[in-house]
Amino acid sequence: MTADADGSGTRIDQLRSTDEPALRCWIADYLFSQLTQWGRWAMPTWSASDINDHIAGNNLIEKEWREILEASADSARFVSVARLGVDAVGVVYAESRRDRYLCAKLGVLSWIYVAPDFRRGRIGCALLASAKRWMVSSSLTMAEVFVTASNPAAIALYSRAGFDSVDNRMLLRVS
Ligand SMILES: CC(C)(COP(=O)(O)OP(=O)(O)OC[C@H]1O[C@@H](n2cnc3c(N)ncnc32)[C@H](O)[C@@H]1OP(=O)(O)O)[C@@H](O)C(=O)NCCC(=O)NCCS
Repeated sequence: MTADADGSGTRIDQLRSTDEPALRCWIADYLFSQLTQWGRWAMPTWSASDINDHIAGNNLIEKEWREILEASADSARFVSVARLGVDAVGVVYAESRRDRYLCAKLGVLSWIYVAPDFRRGRIGCALLASAKRWMVSSSLTMAEVFVTASNPAAIALYSRAGFDSVDNRMLLRVS
C-alpha cells in the first residue's frame, strides 16, 4: 500500500474481495454509458432497457469483473484501488502489449473509473500515477489508452497527464 502524492487524499491499495460490490456497480455504470455512446452509432433504436438486456444477456459485468480479478493476481498486469478509509473510490487496470511496428512493449491503460461522488478530486490523477509507476517498474517505455471521442473528462485527464492523440478509430456500416 502506498500513500499518494497527487493531493487526492486517497491511498493506493490492492484490490480486495470486499471491493466486489463497488466494482460490479462501476462496471455496470461504465458499460451502460459506453454502450449508450456506441449504440447511438451502431444500434440507433436501442433503448436504455435494450442496453441493459444486452449487458445482462452477454454476461458483460461478470466477464469484466472476472478479468479484473484475474489481472489483480497476475504480476504481468496491474490493478490498483484508490481508498478513502476502507472504501474503494476508484480503480485502474493496466496491462501491456508488444507493438508489432514499434517493436516495443507498451503499457496499456485498460480501464480507469472514479466513483461519481468523488470525481474532480484528483483521484483519477493518483490512479493514473500508480499505473505509470507500474509501467516504469515493468521497464515499459510508452503507454497507450483507447478513449471514446465523446468522453471529455477522460480525454482531459489523459491530456493533462501528457498523452497525445495519435490515432482515430473510424467506424463504417457496411451492410
Ligand atoms: C475520467 C475520470 C476517471 C476522471 O477521474 P477524476 O478523479 O474525476 O479526475 P481528476 O480529478 O484526477 O482530474 C484530473 C484532471 O483531469 C481533467 N478532468 C477530469 N474530469 C474532467 C471533467 N469532467 N471535465 C473537464 N476536465 C476534467 C482536469 O484537467 C482535471 O484537473 P483539474 O481538476 O485540476 O482541472 C472520471 O471522470 C470517471 O471515472 N469517468 C467515468 C469512467 C471513464 O470514463 N473512464 C475512462 C475510460 S477511457
